[in-house]
Amino acid sequence: MVGRVALTDDDPRGLAAADGGLVVSHFTSGRLSVVDVDRDVERDAVGLKLPSRAFFTPNQLDQLTLDPVDPGVVVVPHAECNDDPAQFNSGSTAFVGVHAAPCYKEGPSGFPAVVPGVSRAEVVLGALSSDDSEHIDQPGPQPEAEGPPCPIINPLNRTLLQDVNVNGSAAVAVVADGAVELVVARGSGSVVVRRTPVGRGQDSILGVIDAGVGADSIVLSPDGGTACVFNAFDQSVTRCAVPAANDVESRFAHGGFTADAFYDARYAPMQRDAATRFIGAPPALPEDVVRGRELFHAVDQRLTQNGAISCASRHPGGADDGTTWSFVERLRQSPPPWGGITGTAPFHWDGVGRDMADIRRLTSIGRMSGSGLGRDGMDAIGAFLDTIPAPAPPAAAIAATDSIERGAAGDRGLGCLQCHGGADLTDDAMHDVGTGAGFVARETMTAFATPSLKGLAHAAPCLHDGSSRTLRQMIDDLIVTGRMVGTSRALDPRTLTAAQKDDLVAELLSL
Ligand code: HEC
Repeated sequence: MVGRVALTDDDPRGLAAADGGLVVSHFTSGRLSVVDVDRDVERDAVGLKLPSRAFFTPNQLDQLTLDPVDPGVVVVPHAECNDDPAQFNSGSTAFVGVHAAPCYKEGPSGFPAVVPGVSRAEVVLGALSSDDSEHIDQPGPQPEAEGPPCPIINPLNRTLLQDVNVNGSAAVAVVADGAVELVVARGSGSVVVRRTPVGRGQDSILGVIDAGVGADSIVLSPDGGTACVFNAFDQSVTRCAVPAANDVESRFAHGGFTADAFYDARYAPMQRDAATRFIGAPPALPEDVVRGRELFHAVDQRLTQNGAISCASRHPGGADDGTTWSFVERLRQSPPPWGGITGTAPFHWDGVGRDMADIRRLTSIGRMSGSGLGRDGMDAIGAFLDTIPAPAPPAAAIAATDSIERGAAGDRGLGCLQCHGGADLTDDAMHDVGTGAGFVARETMTAFATPSLKGLAHAAPCLHDGSSRTLRQMIDDLIVTGRMVGTSRALDPRTLTAAQKDDLVAELLSL
């Protein structure tokens, strides 16, 4: 029997069977769905909360698992975005080349832009209660009190942040009778071995194992003694021994690990025992695309001096992170670089980038304090990005064919194609459509690069500053008011009826 359940959130990523139901992680929204399998309904959609950290938002929820000791607890890897108070180093050369400096100018929170995290949430009778969630990672000053949450990497510990390149927590396995988590980090191609009982800051880390490029998922052997990590980009599997619970405890009884001792303290039983075993032919992709994919996901000092960040941190999987960032020039939403991005210069909302060399200067060196990747490397990243198609519209969005047809007619009538026409759905030009200075407090720019509308259904929030949470709101704010319409138009935007607006939304979602 096949049952179908419609989930509230987009982009489902991980699945775990829990008592009385399924738990699904949603990559972009940062929420978990709890599905009642008996009745084929979504019982709950719950956001992870990081209660002690007002500035951080959890998203990029990936492959989740259940705690084998307490199957009522879901363990989920994710990113944490410091999306509000950080003032980025955009446009200034103050930090360029200063390798010890963080990649942004810190705002009041003093925290970095993004850190890898793992959270635990209780599953109650098939329904998650966010209030019951216990979150175990906590960047920032670690309280001395017993049992505070702890991070994978404490972003305030610059030594570890710079040196231990843990990036992109993608999967997790709980081993050693629940005492240890093996956190697979895709960007750094590694597995972080961390102690599950809440410790203090980095003390929770027992070691880091090199896995392989694009480490992606993990399974345990039936006897629990071996972990196998699948490295998606080089199509290999890394095997390593799993530590026994008493090993872990005795190590902690001797004081755990300090930051200085970190590299010496790699946990001996965790060393790779059979190195890497190829399970298939290397991917049949052009060499520059393979290299570009690796660089895009890598924590590479040439691209960034921040141990926790790669290009993929902001554009996971070539999409966007659904987050609006605070830069010197004001709020800027991460745009998705899919659908053939290198042919759509100018880049950045402010239209300041003409090619990948400009991205190197403005983004990698300017914002991320990278030392500067060579031209070939930047071009390889561009070649990789150009292989990422814009995602197909959701099935429900393309089913509304009549509405889409009417919406397209409205589009033409309102002159939208003047700027959003052509194969790329952008005219690659800058326009003042009444969304900048004069309309938005503290904004410095008036004109913005026309975004491609490809994959729009997956690209919320909209506009350079993420101010339009829904397309319907954007239509009311910009189109009905006549600020974003073509010059030669057949329709008067002020006369749009509610039904016509619905049609326009339907059409935009189908692109
Ligand atoms: C004069 C050029 C121009 C015209 C005409 C135009 N747009 Fe735009 N559009 C832009 C620019 C520039 C932006 C980016 C504005 C910003 O981010 O502040 C934009 C942004 C958008 C966005 C947000 C996309 C995203 O990813 O954030 C949507 C949706 C959109 N336009 C739809 C339309 C529709 C529908 C019409 C016709 C009613 C239209 N536009 C007419 C230039 C135009």
